[in-house]
Amino acid sequence: MTFDPLVIRKDFPIFDRKIRDGKRLVYLDSGATSQKPQVVIEAESDFYRNHNAAAHRGAHQLAEEATEAIEAARSKVATFLGGAVDEIVFTKHSTEALNLLAYSIGNSPVGNRFHLKPGDEIVISEMEHHANLIPWQQLAKRTGAVLKWFEVNKDGRLDLSNIEGVITARTKIVALTHQSNVLGTIIPLSGLVERAHDVGAVFILDACQSVPHMPVNVADLDIDFLVFSGHKAVGPTGVGVLWGRANLLAELPPFLFGGSMIESVTMTEATWAPAPRKFEPGVPNMAQIVGLGVALDYLTNIGMEKIHNHEIALTDYAISKLLEVEELRIIGPTDMKLRGGAVSFTLGAIHPHDLGQFLDNSGIAVRTGHHCAWPLTRKMGVAATTRASFYLYNAPEDIDALVEAVRDAQKYFA
Ligand code: ALA
Repeated sequence: MTFDPLVIRKDFPIFDRKIRDGKRLVYLDSGATSQKPQVVIEAESDFYRNHNAAAHRGAHQLAEEATEAIEAARSKVATFLGGAVDEIVFTKHSTEALNLLAYSIGNSPVGNRFHLKPGDEIVISEMEHHANLIPWQQLAKRTGAVLKWFEVNKDGRLDLSNIEGVITARTKIVALTHQSNVLGTIIPLSGLVERAHDVGAVFILDACQSVPHMPVNVADLDIDFLVFSGHKAVGPTGVGVLWGRANLLAELPPFLFGGSMIESVTMTEATWAPAPRKFEPGVPNMAQIVGLGVALDYLTNIGMEKIHNHEIALTDYAISKLLEVEELRIIGPTDMKLRGGAVSFTLGAIHPHDLGQFLDNSGIAVRTGHHCAWPLTRKMGVAATTRASFYLYNAPEDIDALVEAVRDAQKYFA
């Protein structure tokens, strides 16, 4: 089947509506959240209409069906990532998954391989989203561990000239974003993962901006943990995924305590169910988990390789067109090597918030601001940027609309 974004778009009901006085919706904010195909919307609604009950708990048919539905979704996520089914933990979103890791590591007693003591090191980078920065800052403060980071150079790439000096014998955790949500930069993983393992550290990948957009296989990447959010992958909000190697999940203590995550409980003690259950207390976001399974089926049927190639071609086109606009500066790599479909830019002295509003009046949805990566925007020497981010339903006509509106904005604000 040939890849045609205009045909794909028909699967997404939101594109039938008009915005801002009858304008076509040009949605260029999939880095923030993706739109949802009808099959995902239907799957959530079908769960509530036909199967709703508390999974893993009741002794009746509906509870059995709810359990089967979320376990089937777990199995789909495992296949999608190339992991094992018991290695998939459902969370509310990737932010919760990263906090789960940070708190669970913080709960690790002396003797546990995750235990952190003063002087141990946690390595991140300057291009992290706040969700993969602040949990580690806080963990470092709680444990006395030292937070270190890779710097970003002026081209928006990680400075990897001194991997050995950043990841050292004291490093216990390396937690990096796979693709920057601001710059679009994809980081070269192999040398980093190898170095982390050489010094006995675990490698955590924030794959929020990569899993929805390109084939990602945890075994091929040889990483230890990965997180992503369903809502950026044409799935529902309210569901995220933590994947972890089985032996590491077994050793990691839980973070949230309560119902359904236990093996045995007395008035003074409790022991834990095996992973993934020990990390999933409380009735899960069942309809959303089911919706995520259908979302991953939808992406798989189209083909992640095709989606990635489409986005690469679209991003290449967008960068070349945007660079023709006078005074427009792209913040991030302008070549397509190791780069994904998020393009941030500034336009002369026009404030990104003003530009965002102007684009919105033309029916174009972008994100403006520091994109929850404040240290990065500071490092790149800007207060804020305008970001266009692309997905499988975007077509060159969307880029043309963006570039035309950017030129109009330039005249308007001159
Ligand atoms: N992390 C999301 C973004 O980059 C919300 O927009």
